[in-house]
Amino acid sequence: MSRLILPAVGGDPVLEKDYDLTLGDDDVRVAIDAAPINPADQLFMLGWFGVYPKVPNQLGAEGTGRVVAAGSQADRSLVGRRVIVLPTFVHGTWASEVVVPAAKVVAVPDADPIQLAMLAVNPATAYALLHDYVTLRPGDWVGLTVANSGVGQNLIALAKRAGLKVLAVVRSESAAARVHADIVLVDGDDLAARIGETKLRVIYDGGAPDLSKLLPALENGGTVVSFSAVTGESQTIPYPDLFYRDVRQRGFYIIRWVEQTPRAELVRVYTELASLVADGTLKVDVEATYPLSAYREALQDAGKDGRTGKVLFTPQA
Ligand SMILES: NC(=O)c1ccc[n+]([C@@H]2O[C@H](COP(=O)([O-])OP(=O)(O)OC[C@H]3O[C@@H](n4cnc5c(N)ncnc54)[C@H](OP(=O)(O)O)[C@@H]3O)[C@@H](O)[C@H]2O)c1
Repeated sequence: MSRLILPAVGGDPVLEKDYDLTLGDDDVRVAIDAAPINPADQLFMLGWFGVYPKVPNQLGAEGTGRVVAAGSQADRSLVGRRVIVLPTFVHGTWASEVVVPAAKVVAVPDADPIQLAMLAVNPATAYALLHDYVTLRPGDWVGLTVANSGVGQNLIALAKRAGLKVLAVVRSESAAARVHADIVLVDGDDLAARIGETKLRVIYDGGAPDLSKLLPALENGGTVVSFSAVTGESQTIPYPDLFYRDVRQRGFYIIRWVEQTPRAELVRVYTELASLVADGTLKVDVEATYPLSAYREALQDAGKDGRTGKVLFTPQA
């Protein structure tokens, strides 16, 4: 039994061998099969995320595993079921076993655990970006930056399924080769010119490139939904676009979405997304998997630019 914890904000994680797995009445205990290292985990460790660590803090925002025990008030039918663990940044999935409130897991059909481990955050983010901001119809164009990311891969797959057209922007030719959108462009000084006449209903902004390169393609009254800040800099709408064109800007945050979405709707969305993982519609590239004991190499691998996919822990391996 082992798990990774953060002993100090900005410090290195440490592997803890024996830890308390006492079940509260409403808890379940989950044996974790796979859990990704997301950019948010790395920001969290530095104290730069929307949830601030309460050290020593468990690590790992999401993952999948099997329920091995349930508290006296928790749904006992979950025992033996495959579940995904929803992000709380309190209950850590970088662990061979974790105790978590039953309300923070969703039972899902069996499918590839590596893909299911990445279901709670990025596919839900992509789903919410497409459904919760602008009403889109088949044939509409949407813009997407940081398009080769996990969020991007999921969004492109869901958009294709809904009959939408995606103009995707990435920062390298090698990333472009892995992105299967209707138009794929590599960032550059002449990006705005290369976008040409395409009119976007909405831009899903990952934080780069600078919005000024994409805004000319956004229709009047269009919306920018910012979901990430890959450069650390804020992206804002210039006054002329605000005043003369009524362009709007919104923001997405998965923790707020999980907290504010009614349980029945969460279960409905995750069940739909899990079925799309099972049938291969949603599939995110994987760079490597590591046992928990190799956490230093895993974190280094996850932190490098130009990865070709996600890095995950497989704690039972
Ligand atoms: N708002 C929310 O609730 C929410 C939910 C999910 C994810 N996110 C955010 O969305 C982003 C993508 O997450 P993910 O898990 O999908 O990521 P991921 O699969 O791990 O990929 C990271 C992406 O960030 C790109 N990137 C990193 N630094 C960059 C920079 N300086 N300029 C341009 N691109 C850069 C990478 O490009 P290369 O491949 O070229 O290196 C890659 O496309 C992250 O910033 C994450 O925090 C936010």
